[in-house]
Amino acid sequence: MKYMTSNAIVRSLTILSTSLLCNVFGLSNGLVKTPPMGWNSWNVFHENINENQIKEIADIMVTSGMKDAGYIYLNLDDNWMATSRDASGNLRADPTRFPSGMKALGDYIHNKGLKFGIYGDRGNRTCYHYNANIANTKSGSHGTEERDAKTFASWGVDYLKYDNCDPASGSNQQKDYENMRDALAKSGRDIVYSICAWGYQSWMPATGNLWRTTGDISNSWETATNGFFKGVINIVDLNEQYAPNASPTGWNDPDMLQIGNGVLSADESRSHMSMWAIMAAPLIAGNNIKTMTQTTKDILMNKEVIAVNQDSLGSQGRRISAANNLEIWSKQLGSKTSSTKAVALLNRSTSTASITVKFADIGLTGEVLVRDLWGKADKGKFTTSYTASVPAHGTVLLKVSIAEVVTVPQAAYADIFAIPGTIEAENYDVGGEGVSYHDADYVNSGNMYRTDGVDITGDLTLGYKVGWTVADEWLEYSVNVTSAGTYTWTAKVSMGGDSAAFHMTLDSVDITGRIQVVGTGTWDDYKEVTGATTIPLTAGKHVLRVTFDRPYMNLDCIAFTSGAPTRIAPLANIAKRNTAYKLYSLQGQMIGTVNGSNDQELRNSIWKAQQKPGLYIIKSLVRSQMISRTICVGFSN
Ligand code: GLA
Repeated sequence: MKYMTSNAIVRSLTILSTSLLCNVFGLSNGLVKTPPMGWNSWNVFHENINENQIKEIADIMVTSGMKDAGYIYLNLDDNWMATSRDASGNLRADPTRFPSGMKALGDYIHNKGLKFGIYGDRGNRTCYHYNANIANTKSGSHGTEERDAKTFASWGVDYLKYDNCDPASGSNQQKDYENMRDALAKSGRDIVYSICAWGYQSWMPATGNLWRTTGDISNSWETATNGFFKGVINIVDLNEQYAPNASPTGWNDPDMLQIGNGVLSADESRSHMSMWAIMAAPLIAGNNIKTMTQTTKDILMNKEVIAVNQDSLGSQGRRISAANNLEIWSKQLGSKTSSTKAVALLNRSTSTASITVKFADIGLTGEVLVRDLWGKADKGKFTTSYTASVPAHGTVLLKVSIAEVVTVPQAAYADIFAIPGTIEAENYDVGGEGVSYHDADYVNSGNMYRTDGVDITGDLTLGYKVGWTVADEWLEYSVNVTSAGTYTWTAKVSMGGDSAAFHMTLDSVDITGRIQVVGTGTWDDYKEVTGATTIPLTAGKHVLRVTFDRPYMNLDCIAFTSGAPTRIAPLANIAKRNTAYKLYSLQGQMIGTVNGSNDQELRNSIWKAQQKPGLYIIKSLVRSQMISRTICVGFSN
């Protein structure tokens, strides 16, 4: 592994650009980089929702294992609102059914470790209020988008489903949805924006995190007509064409799940789940999880099927072939060039049938490993093709991959790293997922050669690194501190346009606090992050754990250097506006004069004068006293 250990660079404070790169194709709020997962009240309770029932659902999302399986958004659908706004014009909860109000409910949901979703409408009234003919409720947000977005934010809302009913006269649908997008951006809170306008339109990816591609899902396998309410299989047919629009910047939404609502058979339910997984569709359960059967649980919480849905590449699978009601679908997993795919063998006919997938049709040659994700069984190695018997309306969901040559990086496993020294991220002893949700890559879909939950990927210039990191993944290293002392650490990281966070513990004690890292531009653009404070370490063996608190970042290595703090703070007590400081190199050579009233301004000023990261000494006469300080100047991009 190549790693620059020039002291100036290792010790320099890295100032990463705060300007996030905007993705030109999609909404760039950086949320739901894998399809959102959660539960929504509509399919099972419709307008009949109340506080106690929702709190109970929150409890059960935790106790049933739904939360751990990844279902983290608890979304209230239509009719949480009162039929009038409050005296100031704010939306308010129905006082009878939600007497404690939405803030309290949001707190309850958050205390369970879940996220809070709510429903709104771009017109005058929500769909229920419109359909039930309740006059003048103003439950829609037309004209009050900013006010309502702020109200949602004040309640701790994390997700807004925004419906399409009762448009204001003369209004424009796209504009209405854009207005709420902009209002949410100004609300001061990260809120997933779910467009519910019953059909795809080209402006949607730049407007929402997800967008409904169809009318409402009905509780049925197939609907006879092509009306607004559609069966599972009708929705599959409609949603397929939009596959190119799906990516980690936004998702096609073929509507919420009907699994566990008493109509679909177990085979049909497995098909529903398989197809939503293959189509990278939001997995929003819509059943009464209080009374769900073991079969329903097994379908909703099949970890390997969820992993197909949550795959971090975010590719929506396509139909490869269809004949005699027998279909083959394929979804690329891991990376665009990987040889790992999910394959669905879907039998739409009314009797059991054999379906054969020819590997050439999905771009694979040679020996192919096949795993059956519902059967939870490795089927072995096959060449040319694989055949399965598929029940009527059922789906066999496979994960297939070319048997890869296993490359073990140098000194992997149980390596003891010396401190001071550099820890190569991929040489962790143990790694894994802190929680099972968002476990998209638990089988290492990147460039697998470890099977313990954390992906290692290779790269031409930097060798190996840990990538595809998701929240709560962690890595552990045995370290040997050769001499007690104070240490500085620098991590070499890259990430796309967003910010990630991680922290480190030594022998289970937090030594860094949460380190927020801002996007470095591209995944190949590595920058160094240095701790703001030094860490006292005792000599001897320790266990260092790195936990990723927020996705996504690549970690190349972490260097520990011994020595005194390299960042001297605070400077504020010596800095006065327009104070002229003399600037010296560390060797004492006078460089020039710089100005600034705080340490950031001084750094900027030095940067302009010098254009070089590193340590500098600044000196100034303050109240007749010569003050001398060392200051770090980092990178700026
Ligand atoms: C519309 C939406 C549904 C649901 C209802 C609520 O029909 O498409 O998903 O939210 O409104 O009234």
